[in-house]
Amino acid sequence: MNKQVTTTYFRQAKKEGKPITMLTAYDYAMARLTDVAGIDAILVGDSLGNVMLGYDSTIPVTMDDMIHHLKAVCRGVNRAMVIGDLPFLSYHCSFEQSIKNAGRILQEGGAQAVKLEGGQEVVPVVQALTAAGIPVMGHLGLTPQSIYQLGGYKVQGKEEAAAKKLACDAQALQKAGVFALVLECIPAMLARYLTEKLTIPTIGIGAGVDCDGQILVIHDLLGLLEGQAPKFVKQYAKLREEVIQAIQTYRAEVQNRIFPGPEQSYTMAKEVIDKIKAEEFF
Ligand code: KIV
Repeated sequence: MNKQVTTTYFRQAKKEGKPITMLTAYDYAMARLTDVAGIDAILVGDSLGNVMLGYDSTIPVTMDDMIHHLKAVCRGVNRAMVIGDLPFLSYHCSFEQSIKNAGRILQEGGAQAVKLEGGQEVVPVVQALTAAGIPVMGHLGLTPQSIYQLGGYKVQGKEEAAAKKLACDAQALQKAGVFALVLECIPAMLARYLTEKLTIPTIGIGAGVDCDGQILVIHDLLGLLEGQAPKFVKQYAKLREEVIQAIQTYRAEVQNRIFPGPEQSYTMAKEVIDKIKAEEFF
């Protein structure tokens, strides 16, 4: 249980039919909880733009944002493999810049691998990164960095042509050397087919139960956010209500001088305070 998870673990888990567990995390405290709970791999996703920074997409997320959050996560992890997302346009301009940015994710951020979005169009960059010794996770289906091109957050690969394109992209990424592939928001039957055909593990998010592993955004799993969660999310807790309740109780106790009580206060000898009072400092 304590050995650090690596890409070898991913390969072995697929061979053994053992589901790979993944979650996102973006800070020390959540990373610590996730690691202690025994999750195999943590993705510091560019979804941090939405859930940590309050943007309405992942487009504004920068390399510096990623490094800042990765460092915090890595400080909280012993066993889980940490994978860092390459943000929007950080792997599109040149091979040199892509390798430098991926290198930062490993060297400065402390991750063991990077993730990037896209199909055949990113094959040359996947090859360049793997040739530089950087493990790469792919990401197909609903790819949030292309949200303006996709026209919204909707299920991908439902029609024949789109499903075929996804299969060709998956095959191309595998050939290019990705060690695993995230499949986001695609029909379960298509994800099952791809999972059977590929030798690398698939990690599903909104892609049905037959993927080799699953990932969720930790804020969704814990029910921390307001508003309607996507259909593929299962909330395992409703922490938003609990957190608001706890904060409201604190507020009321402060207003009514209930907090801090004697248990949260420090004492001193009465003679000492009496002497201080007698000296009339004020
Ligand atoms: O950024 C992210 O959190 C992701 C996962 C949802 C797969 O890409």
